[in-house]
Amino acid sequence: MLNFEFKNPTKILFGKGEIAKISTEVPKDAKVLMIYGGGSIKNNGVYDQVKEALKDHNLQEFGGVPANPEYEVLVDALNFIKENNITYLLAVGGGSVIDGVKFLSAAANYDGEPWEILKKPVRTFEGEGMPFGTILTLPATGSEMNSGYVISRRETNEKLSSGGPGLFPQFSVLDPEVIKSIPKNQIANGIADAYTHVLEQYTTAPSSADLQERIAESILISLQNASPKVMSDDFDYDAAGNFMWCCTMALNGLIQKGVITDWAVHAMGHELTAYYGIDHARTLAVIAPSHYRYNFETKKGKLAQYAERVWGITEGNVEEKAEQAIVKMEEFFHSLNIQTKLSDYTQDFNGTAERIEKAFTERNWLGLGENKNLTPKDAFKIVEMSY
Ligand code: NZQ
Ligand code: ZN
Repeated sequence: MLNFEFKNPTKILFGKGEIAKISTEVPKDAKVLMIYGGGSIKNNGVYDQVKEALKDHNLQEFGGVPANPEYEVLVDALNFIKENNITYLLAVGGGSVIDGVKFLSAAANYDGEPWEILKKPVRTFEGEGMPFGTILTLPATGSEMNSGYVISRRETNEKLSSGGPGLFPQFSVLDPEVIKSIPKNQIANGIADAYTHVLEQYTTAPSSADLQERIAESILISLQNASPKVMSDDFDYDAAGNFMWCCTMALNGLIQKGVITDWAVHAMGHELTAYYGIDHARTLAVIAPSHYRYNFETKKGKLAQYAERVWGITEGNVEEKAEQAIVKMEEFFHSLNIQTKLSDYTQDFNGTAERIEKAFTERNWLGLGENKNLTPKDAFKIVEMSY
C-alpha cells in the first residue's frame, strides 16, 4: 500500500427531514447566499424547506446556475457576492451547483482574473476559500464530500477542473427523498457517474490495498443492486438512500488512498461535453469501454478481479474474464438506457479524436492515466475507437 494522508472534514447529515438542521449548521451571524440551478428545487419542496430552516438568517439567493456550470453565470454570482458582502455560501442542487459554489468559494478571496484559477490551475488551501455548505438534490458526482470541481466556458469550448483542501463543504445534507423528483435520465446519469468514479480508482493494477479494493467492489455491487429500484417508478426510500450514499462514498477520497488512480476516462469525457454538450456521465460510458480495451494489457489483472468479485464470473483465463468484465460494464450502462458509442450521441464526430489530441498537447497533458504514460496520441486512438 502506498503512503497516504487522509482528511475529510465534511459533516454529513443523512436522512429524511435533515434539511431543517441547517438552521444550526449555518452560522447565525453570516450573510448567506443560497445558490441553485434552473429551478427544480422550487417544484419539489426543497426551496421551501431551506427558506423555512433559514428564516432567521440573513439570506439572499442566486438562481440559474446551468448544468455543466457556466463561467459567465458564475462571474455574475461572484460580482453579487462582492457587492453584497456575502460571507457564507449555500449550494442547493446537483454537482453543477455544488461545483459552481466551490469555484465561487475559491474566487471570492482570489485577487487575479478568476479564470486563472482553472487555467493554471490554482489550488485553494485550507482557510483560503469562503465557507460553504451544500444540500444535495442529485446523487452522482460526490462533490458534496470532496474538494474538486469542474467549470465550463462555452465561449472557448473548455471544461476545466480545479480544487484544493480549502474547498470541502463544511456540511452536506443528503436526504434521499429528493430523488422522487429527479427525471430517470438524470438518475441513470448519477448511477453511471458514480460507477465510473469507482472504476477510475480501481481499474488500474492489482494492489495490496485490500480494504480499499473491497470497499470499491462493494460500492459497485451496491450501485448495481440499487439501480433497478431507483430507476423504477415506485419510490423506494432505502434504495434511494443506498444509491445516494454510494455516490458520496465513490468520490470522497476514501477508496483512492494508498492506490494508484487513472482519471483518463474523465479527462477525455470532459472534452466531449465541452464540444457537444453530452451529459457528463454519458461521455464516461462512451470512453470507458474503449479505454479499457486499449489499455487491456496493463489493466487486465484488475478487470479480471472485477469480473470475479463484482460479477461472479469464474470461468475462463485472465484475458477472457477481463474481456467479459468490459462486456458486463457495457451491458450495465445499456440497462440504464445509456449508450456507449459517440455516434449514438452525435453524427458530427469526425475530427473529435484529432481535436482532443491537440487540446491535450496544448495543455501539456502528455502523460495521463495511472502510469502517467498515456499520450495525446493514445487519447486520439481511444476516442477514435469509441466512434
Ligand atoms: O438546474 P435544476 O433545475 O436544479 O435541474 C437539474 C439539472 O437540470 C436537475 N436536478 C437536480 N436535482 C434534481 C433535478 N431535477 C429534479 N429533481 C431534483 N432533485 O438535474 C440536472 C442535472 O444536474 P447537474 O447538477 O448538472 O448534474 P450532476 O450532479 O450530474 O453534475 C454534473 C456536473 O458535475 C461535474 C460534471 O462534470 C458536471 O459538470 N462533476 C463534478 C465532480 C466533482 N466535483 O467531484 C466529479 C464528476 O466526475 C463530474 O465531473
Ligand atoms: Zn464523473
